[in-house]
Amino acid sequence: MGINYLNAVPTKHAKLVSWVEEWAELMTPDAVYWADGSKEEYDRLSQELVDCGLATRLNPEKRPNSLLFRSDPSDVARVESRTYIASENEADAGPLNNWIDPVELKKIMKAKYAGCMKGRTMYVIPFSMGPVGSDIAKIGFEITDSAYVVINKHIMARVTPKVYDVLGADGEFIPCVHSVGKPLAEGESDNGQWPCAPVEEKYICHFPETREIWSFGSGYGGNALLGKKCLALRIASVQARDEGWMAEHMLILKLTSPEGEVKHITGAFPSACGKTNLAMLIPTIPGWKVETVGDDIAWMKFGKDGRLYGINPEAGFFGVAPGTSMDSNPNAMHSCAKDTIFTNVALTEDGDVWWEGIGYDAPGKLIDWKGNEWDPATAEAPAAHPNARFAAKASNCPSIADNWEDPAGVPIDAFLFGGRRPSTIPLVNEAFDWTHGTFMGSAAGSEITAAALDLKAGTVRRDPMAMRPFIGYHVADFLNHWLKIGKTEGAKLPKIFFTNWFRKSPEGKFIWPGFGDNSRVLEWVFKRCDDAVEAVETPIGKLPKKEDINIEGLDLTDADMDALLAVDAEGWKKELAAIKETYESYGEKTPQELIDQIAALEKRLG
Ligand code: OXD
Ligand code: MN
Repeated sequence: MGINYLNAVPTKHAKLVSWVEEWAELMTPDAVYWADGSKEEYDRLSQELVDCGLATRLNPEKRPNSLLFRSDPSDVARVESRTYIASENEADAGPLNNWIDPVELKKIMKAKYAGCMKGRTMYVIPFSMGPVGSDIAKIGFEITDSAYVVINKHIMARVTPKVYDVLGADGEFIPCVHSVGKPLAEGESDNGQWPCAPVEEKYICHFPETREIWSFGSGYGGNALLGKKCLALRIASVQARDEGWMAEHMLILKLTSPEGEVKHITGAFPSACGKTNLAMLIPTIPGWKVETVGDDIAWMKFGKDGRLYGINPEAGFFGVAPGTSMDSNPNAMHSCAKDTIFTNVALTEDGDVWWEGIGYDAPGKLIDWKGNEWDPATAEAPAAHPNARFAAKASNCPSIADNWEDPAGVPIDAFLFGGRRPSTIPLVNEAFDWTHGTFMGSAAGSEITAAALDLKAGTVRRDPMAMRPFIGYHVADFLNHWLKIGKTEGAKLPKIFFTNWFRKSPEGKFIWPGFGDNSRVLEWVFKRCDDAVEAVETPIGKLPKKEDINIEGLDLTDADMDALLAVDAEGWKKELAAIKETYESYGEKTPQELIDQIAALEKRLG
């Protein structure tokens, strides 16, 4: 049976065309459409999604050019338990990844993919992660049967036919295959039902050796927008290891001092630690400016001068809505004021969106994320799903940096690590050197704040470099790669800092105000990059002198600052025991250099 192309094949790239044909033959869509990223395409697909009841167009006077979707309750987040790293050898996936033999997995997947697009259109999406043509950028193609994915990708990646010029007749691309896993019978339509497969039939598969991504059964976020976590982190981390660069779960911000000097700082923080807020921070100290280069992912390569240059491979923000307000993150609120796709937030009577923590009470009755009436007076469950999201264009963000699309990337001066740690870990701590910084990052983790995961509240989930769910290979090899980067000939490496905005008093109150006041810590980091202030050498690292953190205007006592900058030797001994256990769980490949850091720190603590 021939393929029913809805438009002309826009490329002479034989491998690309035969890849599309092969999948079309297996998945048997009604038609194949080559997406072009145009506004006409966005508007047309949006209208189709509204017509079939999947999308609600928001009131254009409140949220111009914006849509609301409600997903299936089984399809609301990334599913780590259904995410696979199918390396040829199990040992290469490591203890933090799910593994299935790639040959076996491809067999399972092909059976699922057979006929899975019946009744639907197969979209072929050309995209660049990073500015088109940048040496650091990568080209991907995503096949999908979800128009929702197509329009989200218009926001989150650079979807453009310019990709074909870069690709030429035989350029390299990363093939990404996606299906919601819900074929339609003759005459059937989605009719307002979010299409997906049950949880146990969802598969998010990565084949690191062949750089392929195969996803089935989910239409949500990182499971379906395959350029993001799948390509830009899991597959890219493998490429970065092989090619000597870094693909990290990091924000990038541009910090300008009152004197007009600029530094670029990245930050790796586990989920729910305010990464997007930090990337878009409005400083509370006069004269300082933070601008946003990226809020989630950084790709960094060495330049000829030995410095690391970073790009944000994405073109938009896929932010968590609940908790985002004009107080916590005005720049994010402005970013999603128009041209935005919301998923699983609540709908107001006047056609706007609302979520818990938006900064004002629900303006009357709502339709909640499940599509039911929600009355603030009687509601028992939240109106928005806690992982409800907005997909907003980076170009609509008031704090976006003028150089955010520089194809050469921005020179990185400092790396920050962090996590939610109520005790032991100080407000900010500079590493002695790269290896010590790698040690600090490898031990990053976040306190489990609710019994949300099946982990005990109050315990720390270790999340090395905030990459735990995103390393496409063995965690110990990943740590080795970090150490290797530090030994790159002629490298002028960024300084590494560990931050903790979440220290609590014995009464359980946050000591540090956080949010815009984190600029006070950024100021110290900035000055340390120039050695403009001295640090205090302690057993755990280099800490600020109390007087070097500007706390003017804050309600903080001397005792508070002492607590924030203390070396808690007893707490650190417990911390080291936990790190040792974590390293043991990574197995024999855990780098000896990092294990030695434990003993060295133990000795320094006395
Ligand atoms: C994200 C995540 O969605 O890290 O960015 O989970
Ligand atoms: Mn993330």
